[in-house]
Amino acid sequence: MGKVVAVVNQKGGVGKTSVTLGLASAARARGHRSLVVDLDPQGASTWVLGVDAERVKRSAADALASGRNGALREVVADTTWGHLVHVAPSGPALQRHETARGGIENLLSGKSSGRLRRSLDGVARGYGVVLVDCPPSLGELTTNALAAADYALLVVEPTALSLRGVEPVADLIETVWGRDNRRLDLAGVIVNRMPARGADATVRYEELARTVGESAVWSPAIPQRIAVAEAATARRPIHDMGARARDVAHAFDDLYGRLWQLIKPARA
Ligand SMILES: Nc1ncnc2c1ncn2[C@@H]1O[C@H](COP(=O)(O)OP(=O)(O)O)[C@@H](O)[C@H]1O
Ligand SMILES: [Mg+2]
Repeated sequence: MGKVVAVVNQKGGVGKTSVTLGLASAARARGHRSLVVDLDPQGASTWVLGVDAERVKRSAADALASGRNGALREVVADTTWGHLVHVAPSGPALQRHETARGGIENLLSGKSSGRLRRSLDGVARGYGVVLVDCPPSLGELTTNALAAADYALLVVEPTALSLRGVEPVADLIETVWGRDNRRLDLAGVIVNRMPARGADATVRYEELARTVGESAVWSPAIPQRIAVAEAATARRPIHDMGARARDVAHAFDDLYGRLWQLIKPARA
């Protein structure tokens, strides 16, 4: 059964969507099937996967709202990336889950945090990996992602500001682990947008390794490359972007290789 990996950080723009899609692209390059669950109301990964918001009839929000076991299966859509990549698309109604009803009380009590997990019941089986692209917040949606996940992957930039955000995410992982999901594990921290040179970035990288532990920081860091943004604009996998994207694609191959070591099914 495919493992569920939540790609998280409460900050926007650090690269959660780029990492989610880069890993889906690497999985596809290896012939593995992946499902991207787009929990960001902004719907960036849904769009890059070739699914237009206006044409989405049922979104991940409907699966969460229904609360039924396996409900996510009914919203899964094909993508323009080919038969190996599917998406549970985002929709504007997701925003309501983040803010509505019991709001903060639901969140604190964990009352509705099991919805994504229930909706994934039996769905993950069809995939090598399920990648959950989280919104830039630590609210109801990210909590649901962590409660459903086998692994959390934290995406950061090598900047002081970005590193300050690591602790609240680590705290939420701890809370969800204690309250909702004892399977949850921090897979590691992926450093995105590593500049070719930059003393500050190197210092931050080392600081991060000291804070979370050397082995938790995954290597390689993803380089800062225009090709990442170009792939998103072209709505194509990074592996299809040719020579100028080659080193980024290789970085994702290596990161996916490491992820696969964690998630691959045990041999019978
Ligand atoms: N390694 C990178 N090099 C260059 N641009 C990047 C890189 N990673 C992300 N970007 C760009 O930065 C912006 C924010 O990235 P995104 O993945 O959408 O972040 P998030 O999902 O965390 O909000 C996007 O325009 C994306 O194309
Ligand atoms: Mg995003």
